[in-house]
Amino acid sequence: MIFGGILAGGTGTRMNIVNMPKQFLMLGEKPIIIHTLEKFLLCNRLDKIYVGVHKDWLTYCQELVEKYIGHCEKIKIIQGGQDRNATIMNIIESLEEEFGTSEENIIVTHDAVRPFISLKVIEENIDSAFQYGACDTVIPATDTIVVSEDTKVISGIPERSQMYQGQTPQSFKVNLLKKMYTDLTEEEKNILTDACKICVIRKVPVHLVEGDSLNIKITTITDLSIANAIMRGEKTE
Ligand code: CTP
Repeated sequence: MIFGGILAGGTGTRMNIVNMPKQFLMLGEKPIIIHTLEKFLLCNRLDKIYVGVHKDWLTYCQELVEKYIGHCEKIKIIQGGQDRNATIMNIIESLEEEFGTSEENIIVTHDAVRPFISLKVIEENIDSAFQYGACDTVIPATDTIVVSEDTKVISGIPERSQMYQGQTPQSFKVNLLKKMYTDLTEEEKNILTDACKICVIRKVPVHLVEGDSLNIKITTITDLSIANAIMRGEKTE
């Protein structure tokens, strides 16, 4: 089976607003998370879409889905975890409770705050996860990447042609990801905030899926302004 895992368990501290997590802010006529969910609902290959939400916002999120999407058997809202990977693991626990385990289970994990994800990228994630077990969505880096180990001087400038910017979705065979995560020490769990990085340190190949420069992550107020400009552009196309 194929599952969507929408990661909405964060509280958006870098957004610097106090009243609600950024995934619930309005983008055009709907909250950000509703745009993201609508994109996932377009993908008929997904059997169920789980949304991991901070415990204080479970009812609020449920009400938003009912208001903007209506009653939908395909969407299930569950409690997120204390970090991003813990939210993914809560989603995996829920889907296994409902559907059991299988070597063929695939999860397409996606940041709730990337509302411009395309159906094409979701489909390519599914194909890649089936074929290779793990994949990450990336775009080639356009800026030169500069490394500074001490935050004061440059310690290296890697070859730009080998640099990519990581986006989401990140997709996995569920059993593979779960096994790697449960094998981590508590210390490793605290450091490894990115699910693909778990594969990389365990030397499990992560295949690249070509993303899209419009698939931005809304992290700051400036990103929200850019997202609104993208929305206005989509409407006039
Ligand atoms: N996320 C999650 N569970 C957590 C923390 C983050 O599902 N415990 C999700 C966020 O809701 C977001 C995505 O992971 O959709 C990407 O994380 P980020 O942009 O860092 O979101 P926040 O943690 O909300 O923001 P900040 O780091 O500014 O606090």
